Amino acid sequence: MNLANELPCRRELFFLEPSDHYLNCAYMAPLARGVEAAGEAGLRRRRRPFEIQPQDFFTTSEQVRAAFARVIGAPEPKRVAILPSVSYGIAIAARNLPLAAGQTIVIAAEQFPSNVYAWREAARRAGAELLTVAAPSTPGSRAEAWNEALLRAIDARTAVVALPHTHWVDGTRFDLERIGDRARTHGASLVIDGTQSVGALPFDLAAIRPDALICAAYKWLLGPYGLAYGWFGPRFDAGEPLEWNWIAREGSEDFRTLLAYRDAFAPGAVRYDVGERSDFVRLPMALAALELVHELGADRIQRYADRLLEPALEEARALGFRCEERRGRGAHLIGLRVEALRDAERVQAILRAEQVHLSQRGDVLRVSPHVYNDAGDAAALMRALRRLVR
Ligand SMILES: Cc1ncc(COP(=O)(O)O)c(C=O)c1O
Repeated sequence: MNLANELPCRRELFFLEPSDHYLNCAYMAPLARGVEAAGEAGLRRRRRPFEIQPQDFFTTSEQVRAAFARVIGAPEPKRVAILPSVSYGIAIAARNLPLAAGQTIVIAAEQFPSNVYAWREAARRAGAELLTVAAPSTPGSRAEAWNEALLRAIDARTAVVALPHTHWVDGTRFDLERIGDRARTHGASLVIDGTQSVGALPFDLAAIRPDALICAAYKWLLGPYGLAYGWFGPRFDAGEPLEWNWIAREGSEDFRTLLAYRDAFAPGAVRYDVGERSDFVRLPMALAALELVHELGADRIQRYADRLLEPALEEARALGFRCEERRGRGAHLIGLRVEALRDAERVQAILRAEQVHLSQRGDVLRVSPHVYNDAGDAAALMRALRRLVR
């Protein structure tokens, strides 16, 4: 093991107290000190609007595009759009991808609703079918069986495959390279909600070759709420935005000529930017956060999470908790299942008593560590799990 390439705990970059056992980045990342400072500076800037120049409506936006492009290994920052939410980005994809009566849209069961509702609506309008693929309950690896079932569901009828990289409830990892290959074989588009993975799990854009990748900023990308990033491939180059935003037009940098209305958009995915995308508080926060995500590195975050929690997970399994085996999930998002979770009030009471912050989603207790978590958090988690099954 190359120790120089291993992350130490980076709790000092955040504001967590030793007693805050926050193992819930899948819910919302805690603000890093640098991200908060960038937001405060942005807020203070509004005291003196006369110092905000027209070019300031563009520079931070371009830096944010470039910083997100670097995180996902995209060569062209212009393919990144600045969005307000994942549902907004998926709505752009649903508006622009061709879909005809009798075709299918393939999704996995129990996806986060932002990557479901727009497709339900698109299917209803077109007379297409939304095909929801459930996790098979066969013996062996659940992730493997689920991936195989998804591959089988993609056929000549498929117009769109819309999936996450890791499932938001239990962390199941979808084999997007194989799924993308199969989608392309049938001419179908691949739309990915990367919210629960990008930033913490390496995303190989060149190998997966999605048509669109949408990620909320406030979880594994450590950024502010109310912001998301969308990477849009060539299929979207001449598409229709959800709004007809003036700042996305070619030449809008010159505020003196804004009344020379123009039809042409700035190149790439800028046309999909949300109105008022040049937010002077959120964008500097987003930039600081994306730089931190890049510095930490998704590979290293995975190894950190593995090192921190593997011993605890081994004990959890011995206590009767079931979770996806390691090759079927990321290290950053683990769903624990056990009968004792049925009594949700008792679960909450135990977690509160141990000051462990986790989300319960249905019959799954979701553990989602990051580099601010330390051995004290892992020990508190184990205390809570032992009490749960006692
Ligand atoms: C997988 C996934 N996608 C998207 C979101 C957020 O979606 P939106 O930005 O539309 O609120 C979440 C929030 O929990 C999520 O888990």
